[in-house]
Amino acid sequence: MLAAVMTRPGGPEVLELREVPRPAPAIAEAVVRVRGAGVNPIDAKTRAGGGASALIRDYPAVLGVDFCGVIERPAFDSHDFQPGDVVYGLLPVPRVSGSYAQFATAHVAMIARAPRSLTALEAGALPCAALTAWGCVVTTGRIEAGQRVLIHAGAGGVGHLAVQLAALAGAHVITTSSADNSEWLRSLGAAEVIDYRNERFEDVTGEIDVVIDLIGNVRDNTGSRSLEVLRKGGLLISVPTGSWSTFREECAAAAVRSTDIKAISSTAVLTEIANLVDAGSLKIRLEKTFPLSEARAAHELIETGHSKGKIALEIP
Ligand SMILES: NC(=O)c1ccc[n+]([C@@H]2O[C@H](COP(=O)([O-])OP(=O)(O)OC[C@H]3O[C@@H](n4cnc5c(N)ncnc54)[C@H](OP(=O)(O)O)[C@@H]3O)[C@@H](O)[C@H]2O)c1
Repeated sequence: MLAAVMTRPGGPEVLELREVPRPAPAIAEAVVRVRGAGVNPIDAKTRAGGGASALIRDYPAVLGVDFCGVIERPAFDSHDFQPGDVVYGLLPVPRVSGSYAQFATAHVAMIARAPRSLTALEAGALPCAALTAWGCVVTTGRIEAGQRVLIHAGAGGVGHLAVQLAALAGAHVITTSSADNSEWLRSLGAAEVIDYRNERFEDVTGEIDVVIDLIGNVRDNTGSRSLEVLRKGGLLISVPTGSWSTFREECAAAAVRSTDIKAISSTAVLTEIANLVDAGSLKIRLEKTFPLSEARAAHELIETGHSKGKIALEIP
């Protein structure tokens, strides 16, 4: 099969289009013919030698954690997902071969029927960001109507979905972005959008119940500054692993609850997300799509840190 492989850790130039063997399914895995794959910051971090790169045993390695595709071979004869069914889901890359490829194997508990109203490219870019947003807003954040929620980086892949889910929960959503994205984020349900380039969010938000921090301290001390706006007993969810190594201690000192989080896939949650999408209640925005052969350019774009919504690879 054709795959965009990472030949060694390094810059985007280590991504090459190559013929590689198809991955073999483990027990309870289906074989999926991939149509669209998401491009996520974790892919770029892993390619650069951070992220999950310590788990890569052999090169060339196939990156890509999320996908939409067609079942080629079911996990077993009578399983719900049969050849021809369009599914989407999240893969435990780099333990298995990733989605930047014509075929992937996926545990059936981590996939679901894709939203009918989306293209394969849109659906392929949705799982990692949507499952992360779901974890922040629903499972971990337990955000309720009337709560004041601050979401950093609302214009990104996770952020634009978290803004919508928090607004659907009835929260008063405040988000940070550059000024160009303000109108769009309001149209997704944000009540207030703070232009982080020209305003300090701690001067204007008032007291906040939950911060969904998609930045950490890697830019402008965003994580630590969030403690100035959280009420005592409020919750900080630190999403980018390693972006703010002392968040637990700093949150404890500020009498604020804290947690990290990981994207977790399940058929049940992916089905709920698909239902919201098909009902028109949750919208994904694709910033740009690239053919698989241009995975390098896709990585260059995600590494700018300013893509608006999601990026997808079209698999031939
Ligand atoms: N723990 C997990 O399982 C998990 C899962 C998914 C993602 N993550 C991590 O979470 C982070 C966000 O992921 P993502 O996919 O949403 O990233 P992304 O799509 O690359 O985010 C890009 C967005 O960040 C915004 N941004 C950049 N600097 C900003 C700042 N100083 N303040 C506010 N917004 C800023 C940009 O908005 P403007 O262009 O308007 O500046 C842009 O739209 C990444 O570090 C990722 O690795 C972790």
